[in-house]
Amino acid sequence: MSKKILCVVGARPNLMKIAPVIKALKAGPNPFDVCLLHTGQHYDSSMNDQFFAALGIPKPNINLDVGSASHAVQTAEIMRRFEPVLEQEAPAAVLVVGDVNSTIACALVATKMGVKVVHVEAGLRSYDRGMPEEVNRVLTDQISDILFTTERKAMDNLLREGISADRVHFVGNVMIDTLFSQLPHATPMLETLRQSGISKTFLNGKTDYGILTLHRPSNVDDVNVLRSLLITVADISQTLPIIFPVHPRTRGRIESYGLMELITSVNIALLRPQGYLEMLGLIKDARLVLTDSGGIQEETTALGVPCITLRHNTERPITVTEGTNTITGTDSQQIHAAVKYVLLTGGKAGKSPEFWDGEAALRIAAVLHDWLGTTQQHHVA
Ligand code: UD1
Repeated sequence: MSKKILCVVGARPNLMKIAPVIKALKAGPNPFDVCLLHTGQHYDSSMNDQFFAALGIPKPNINLDVGSASHAVQTAEIMRRFEPVLEQEAPAAVLVVGDVNSTIACALVATKMGVKVVHVEAGLRSYDRGMPEEVNRVLTDQISDILFTTERKAMDNLLREGISADRVHFVGNVMIDTLFSQLPHATPMLETLRQSGISKTFLNGKTDYGILTLHRPSNVDDVNVLRSLLITVADISQTLPIIFPVHPRTRGRIESYGLMELITSVNIALLRPQGYLEMLGLIKDARLVLTDSGGIQEETTALGVPCITLRHNTERPITVTEGTNTITGTDSQQIHAAVKYVLLTGGKAGKSPEFWDGEAALRIAAVLHDWLGTTQQHHVA
């Protein structure tokens, strides 16, 4: 009988990671029985539903419908609702991805119930415990039975935390599996602008533009940091038009702090949160990307597009050492200097990191078959 793996998603960045994993688990002569659970952490259609359609992710078998709340309440509510489901489903393993609250909540319930935990995208560390994601990463890795990493440096981080090397497998980056498979279907930039009702005059007949994304609490919850970032971007937009798909958290903060006027009178196109194919189309042809996202640092490296990260650190150092990423923090002068460098030189050349080759999910499936004793060889024996 095929073994059941319960896969967990909760927030937008989980969706591009789980898509190739589910496909690989269901493939081959001896497919796993995949049960997909959505915690409901992200629920807006623009943050959720349209990604399922674009990425071909099956409809979740179970939705916990937790919605937004404080970190403690959201995490606790996921745990409370997940426990009876896990008891009923009784999978051979629970597979979690990334570093959101849904990741740690479901991993913790599983481990307490004696169910094996698999963590995809393990071992990334910013060494900044002020980031909620960093806490989620450290704790999830501690209680995972099998850990899949995207870059070699992740192993050093895990060994330092006492995790034994035989639980860790370097398989590459599943998000880049999705990127390569979806690239031919990316929505052209002009189509996205048209659908967003952005006037044709926005680009002044040129094709050069930059992208901005912002959603980290450290950038958008502090009014002074957010104001300074928006002023800096407004300055940049006088040289390079900026397309800014606005995360719901960020829009809420900009409005409640009364900062909207800083970015409405200039060359900035404000868009709703975009779907995966729209975002891919915007990023691939951008002159540069300004972001505080983790995933976009990786996507720009895979696409060879210059990335300027508006944070003081990154948990994805390979995007800096091998890729196109530059960390500037939030200081206006540093950001201006990095933008100027890109506009003058085209930015760092960068190369695609090892195993960011579109096959990471297949490597994961192979390890899991071996681990759960479901390979054909095991059956034959
Ligand atoms: C979460 C993840 C973050 C990830 C990000 C991607 C954690 C700790 N953080 O942050 O790692 O990079 O998702 O988006 O899990 N909201 C909506 N509609 C939605 C979802 C959220 O309006 O569908 C608003 C709500 O006001 C909510 C706020 O956004 O309170 C924050 O949402 P939440 O999921 O708690 O965290 P994110 O900031 O999205």
